[in-house]
Amino acid sequence: MNPLDASRTALATSLMRALHSRHDPAPLLDDHWGDRLVPDTVRTALCQRVLDGMPPTARAEAAAAPAELLAQSLRSNAAYADVITRARYAEDALKAAVERGATQYVIIGAGFDSFAYRRPIWAAELNVYEIDHPATQEMKRQRLAACGVDASVSVEFIAADLSAETLGSALARSSFQPGRWTFFSWLGVTMYLTREANLSALAAIASSAPEGSELVFNYVDQDTLHPGALVAEAFSQLKSAVSSAGEAFLSGFDPAEVREQLQAAGLLLLEDLNGDQAVARYDVSGLNGLRSAAAAHIAHARVARPSPARMSA
Ligand SMILES: C[S@@+](CC[C@H](N)C(=O)[O-])C[C@H]1O[C@@H](n2cnc3c(N)ncnc32)[C@H](O)[C@@H]1O
Repeated sequence: MNPLDASRTALATSLMRALHSRHDPAPLLDDHWGDRLVPDTVRTALCQRVLDGMPPTARAEAAAAPAELLAQSLRSNAAYADVITRARYAEDALKAAVERGATQYVIIGAGFDSFAYRRPIWAAELNVYEIDHPATQEMKRQRLAACGVDASVSVEFIAADLSAETLGSALARSSFQPGRWTFFSWLGVTMYLTREANLSALAAIASSAPEGSELVFNYVDQDTLHPGALVAEAFSQLKSAVSSAGEAFLSGFDPAEVREQLQAAGLLLLEDLNGDQAVARYDVSGLNGLRSAAAAHIAHARVARPSPARMSA
């Protein structure tokens, strides 16, 4: 991503969660912060980009209803279903992990994730850490302050460019405690990092937290990233859109190999859902009209070996 700009994809996914929470018929999330955290200037710029892509004859009518235009554009984005289902999946898995004793929650590439500011009662005691690129985190902190939120009581921010610093080193700069059961989420990020950075982050997760700690992350099937790969039109448009926003997809995982890659890092794969399976699970009746991008996967894993901290405890 552009080192000076907040992630545009993070702003868009935040708007998607708010749109879903407020306007879809059977919401899977209750994220009413998602749009408050996004500056009006960003909404205006997103609308303008949609208008710029329309035939001139249709622009005037569309421009008269910008909120509807933006909602339509976000809903038709190939990432929409994945953004909603992965957020719900991660929060369900986090709740179960807290019930089993997890006391720390690390959100890697948090973007405008609002979990810490709308804490459900079951998460009252959780220590939450948000790791993100400094430019994105700075905008989020400004927006939280503008909304009157004292974020320091809810979350510890760790600014880190994970293309230049390892996850382990970023965590070591915080009050994160390696001996405590931890839940990690890593949503919408792996595609923007190199394969090496992703494998390094997996190894850091496994070695930073005790056995039983968990991770939910998502990835795109790497076959769909090869030049000339045959993919659905909507996914192809998504690849071009993120690329022109300065956040090109850099890497994916091979679903046939992900279990072994996790195992090599010290993680046991518990579940791997492709986009079709995620939509079938979370939009059973089709009420929300979620349209899957099958190439988007949600994976759930557990630290499968004792961390050095625990072994020496
Ligand atoms: C698509 S957004 C996802 C945000 C959030 N997790 C969500 O699901 O809405 C991608 C996130 O990855 C972060 N990111 C991208 N490249 C990064 C890097 N090199 N180091 C740290 N964070 C990065 C961006 O700042 C952004 O918050």
